[in-house]
Amino acid sequence: MSSTVGKMTTEEIQYKVLTPTDLNEVTQLMADQFLPRNPLAIFAGETTLEKFGTDLKTYMEKCVKSGVSMGAYTSSGRLVGFRLSYIMTPATEQQEHCTSNSLCFKVLEQMEDGVDLFKQKDVQKILELFAVTVHNDYGGRGIAGNLIKKTIAIAEEKGCQLATTKITNILSGKIYKRLGFQTETTLDLTTIPGLNTSLMPGETMAYYVVGRLPLSV
Ligand SMILES: CC(C)(COP(=O)(O)OP(=O)(O)OC[C@H]1O[C@@H](n2cnc3c(N)ncnc32)[C@H](O)[C@@H]1OP(=O)(O)O)[C@@H](O)C(=O)NCCC(=O)NCCS
Repeated sequence: MSSTVGKMTTEEIQYKVLTPTDLNEVTQLMADQFLPRNPLAIFAGETTLEKFGTDLKTYMEKCVKSGVSMGAYTSSGRLVGFRLSYIMTPATEQQEHCTSNSLCFKVLEQMEDGVDLFKQKDVQKILELFAVTVHNDYGGRGIAGNLIKKTIAIAEEKGCQLATTKITNILSGKIYKRLGFQTETTLDLTTIPGLNTSLMPGETMAYYVVGRLPLSV
């Protein structure tokens, strides 16, 4: 269903939990809309699936199986946004050590140095907000914000005590800050060898942020 406001058409967006049958569409959106537009991927020169390497596929598979990844769909059933996520427990955390050749993954893992969220009181399940993207044609309509809020609501139902992410784009960063996420660590990306931060103007800081659930979303 769509309605016309002046010249702009507002198309109704539907949200649903992603499953493994959505993996091909998710992979396509990752290739077309996330990697070429994400500042960290651009700085690292990892703007295609091939350049990023096989670990990204492993993470996408894990996210679509998790029950806490959401897709945003047009009324004709086209995927135009995703919020890929998964749940970490102390047991899965043990297996998580990054052996990837991807510079992006190495930078993201470096941000967790010295932080052990499972040491916090009563924390057994953590929502890891892995990657969010919204198709450029559908940007600025609150779709990323809705995807994040709906994902967090499901994670609360599933008993997560914390939600965490690394902010590598100032646009999505605004959403987490508004939801009350607190910064654990910051990283100045201009100091990382191999990253070319002059490739895209704007924010060159990355933030590892954590929200205590339930959030008031
Ligand atoms: C970041 C991204 C997911 C935002 O998606 P979105 O659906 O446009 O986001 P929302 O509409 O919920 O808006 C989020 C904020 O960004 C702002 N925004 C979105 N697009 C914008 C644009 N083109 N110019 C200026 N501001 C913009 C919104 O105004 C909003 O800020 P506000 O609440 O202060 O008004 C999308 O731009 C994207 O896919 N980027 C590439 C991948 C990436 O870097 N992902 C994030 C890192 S994991």
